[in-house]
Amino acid sequence: MKKKYFRPVVAVMLAILLVVGLAACGAGGGGNQADDGGRIGVSMPTRSLQRWNQDGENLQRLLEEAGFEVDLQFGGENEVPVQVAQIENMIASGVDVLIIAAIDGDSLTEVLATAEEAGIPVIAYDRLIMNTTAVTYYATFDNFLVGEMQGRFIEEALDLPNQPGPFYIEFFTGDPGDNNINFFFPGAMSILQQYLDDGTLVALSGQTDILQVATPGWSTEAAQARMENLISMNNYSPTGQQLHAVMCSNDSTAQGVTNALVNAGFTADNMPIITGQDCDIISVRNMVAGLQAMSVFKDTRTLAANVVEMVIAIMEGNEPPINDRENYDNGTGIIPTFLSVPVVGTIENYRELLIDSGYYTEDQIYS
Ligand code: GAL
Repeated sequence: MKKKYFRPVVAVMLAILLVVGLAACGAGGGGNQADDGGRIGVSMPTRSLQRWNQDGENLQRLLEEAGFEVDLQFGGENEVPVQVAQIENMIASGVDVLIIAAIDGDSLTEVLATAEEAGIPVIAYDRLIMNTTAVTYYATFDNFLVGEMQGRFIEEALDLPNQPGPFYIEFFTGDPGDNNINFFFPGAMSILQQYLDDGTLVALSGQTDILQVATPGWSTEAAQARMENLISMNNYSPTGQQLHAVMCSNDSTAQGVTNALVNAGFTADNMPIITGQDCDIISVRNMVAGLQAMSVFKDTRTLAANVVEMVIAIMEGNEPPINDRENYDNGTGIIPTFLSVPVVGTIENYRELLIDSGYYTEDQIYS
């Protein structure tokens, strides 16, 4: 019985394999590189923030599923020399493509000159790599839109167009070496600056310049220390000087700000509106607890899938999908970019966005 059933199945499978094999040869001209086992170097900035662990894992899984061998490395605790050394090793070991989320966008010029000489295409992942002609493509989320969403959220929550104010606000963005802050922060300011100008919003610290509000390494501890300073300098407290909003460019900084405010006696009942980005587990828990108002969800599964598509196109000699040829100039010219669309996450929609979509399990949020 078993045998009779087995034979036709095998025959069908062989036929499918033959058809797929022929199709692959036809499509790729010289055969499908993925099946030939190309090797891809993936360099992520750090293990210390949740998102990069997820990015690294997603990339590795999807690349391996597509038939590639993967060399995945994390740059210590955001340590530039470690990242440079790891990329050097990847180049020396003859990877076919490099995927890099830079710790510092300006620190890879030299090492990537070697990649360029060796003819290795480079995909800048999430963060643009500056001042090098080695970058072939860039894949990220619409970073200006991320900032706009944060600014718009504060504008709507405080009803800034209709209320005279003044409302008190402070600002936190990320690492000064991360080119993304040059989109996140201006994106938020494209909404909020007008209200600072007409006095509806007031930053008592006077710190509204991108470099004044930057957070080295996007560090939670550094953000917490700066917020603690701002609290003591300006007497922010639930019963004293009011603070209505803290614009944070991402979740790791938002978490530091939240810690400082909770330590100063703020609770869910009087917490300023705090923005974020990434929908990190800790921040989602803070949203559920009423301690963070919003985060911007950037589905790392989508970004990883876009990049794997880019890799396959490169390996097959095709042009990958590109939807922005205007906005991302790395100092040597415009880098062809694929932008994904971020989504606002709040207490209203986090379940659908994060749990129903399988991004997190219920246990990860509630345990
Ligand atoms: C940015 C990234 C954000 C956030 C931040 C800190 O470059 O776009 O999603 O994770 O780095 O790692």
